[in-house]
Amino acid sequence: MQAIFCEQLGGPEHLVLREIASPTPGPGEVRVALRARGVSFVDVLTIAGEYQTKREVPFIPGSEAAGVVIETGPGVEHVSAGDRVLVPGGFADETVAAAPQVIPLPATVSFETAAAFRASYCTAYYALQRGRLQAGEVLLVHGAAGGVGLAAVDVGKLLGATVIATASTPEKLAVCTRMGADHVINYTHGFREQVKDLTADRGADVIYDPVGGDVFDESMRCIAPFGRLLIVGFASGRAAVVKTNHLLIKDAEAIGFTIGALGRLDPVRERKNLGILMGWLAAGRITPHVSHRFPLAQAAAALALVRERKVMGKAVLV
Ligand SMILES: NC(=O)c1ccc[n+]([C@@H]2O[C@H](COP(=O)([O-])OP(=O)(O)OC[C@H]3O[C@@H](n4cnc5c(N)ncnc54)[C@H](OP(=O)(O)O)[C@@H]3O)[C@@H](O)[C@H]2O)c1
Repeated sequence: MQAIFCEQLGGPEHLVLREIASPTPGPGEVRVALRARGVSFVDVLTIAGEYQTKREVPFIPGSEAAGVVIETGPGVEHVSAGDRVLVPGGFADETVAAAPQVIPLPATVSFETAAAFRASYCTAYYALQRGRLQAGEVLLVHGAAGGVGLAAVDVGKLLGATVIATASTPEKLAVCTRMGADHVINYTHGFREQVKDLTADRGADVIYDPVGGDVFDESMRCIAPFGRLLIVGFASGRAAVVKTNHLLIKDAEAIGFTIGALGRLDPVRERKNLGILMGWLAAGRITPHVSHRFPLAQAAAALALVRERKVMGKAVLV
């Protein structure tokens, strides 16, 4: 089978395609033929050695995929050969996963959609839970055309919020509108005044920030009293410094979280959230957006596009 390897940390151009033996599932494991793999900003950071979780070279990048079960090891009962599943597999033709991580995929969900769904939507849903978003509240989503951003627009609308989406180009703003955003702002030259205008000077109740840096700083100036500012990530490259006097004056909260920590510290809640999201996905109530598709061999091109800020929603390797 073929697999993409990161053999030296750096940009996508260093990735290599190798022919390797198919993996064999041991007890409690499942071997899956992958049909689609999600590509994300976290993969760009991981192959560069810049993500908080470091991996030792050589490794196969990627963390979410969908495909068909080929065979199961002893002791696996919830799936069998031929089943369509979601797995945490990487950029390869096949993967072997531990049985608890192999999730049956509803017949109505395509491999492509499934591969673009899990990380972004689990992050967005958990974040909005942590932000205690209520129906009727104003949710401001930054970097809203990105992977975790567009998922927050989608889930935020489903939860009954009024969603204001920010992004850097008209094309990205149009995708946010199609995803259901009530208002869109090109934040290249700031957003504070527009948010104030759209909220009768009150500000946003919940602000979802995967960008950080200047965007975080300006967010502190348009957050509503009792507002919750969700620290999702730092796509801008700068983690902002929270000014506690701003939190005090606004009676606001800044809330940090990682979806990885949820899986480690509260796996029951993680599984419950995934079940709820899978139900919404199967019913067509959430609709992950895929802007680019590449064959597996062109993983480097997909990652380069993410790095260049050109992907909307997700890119997938099919
Ligand atoms: N907390 C968690 O559990 C968790 C989980 C998943 C991801 N994350 C983090 O969330 C962040 C976004 O991830 P993602 O998958 O949504 O990434 P993405 O798809 O690449 O989207 C990031 C968005 O950020 C905006 N951006 C602003 N400045 C940027 C810059 N200098 N470079 C690149 N993008 C920039 C871009 O939108 P515009 O062009 O419109 O500005 C882009 O669409 C990352 O920092 C990631 O590590 C956190």
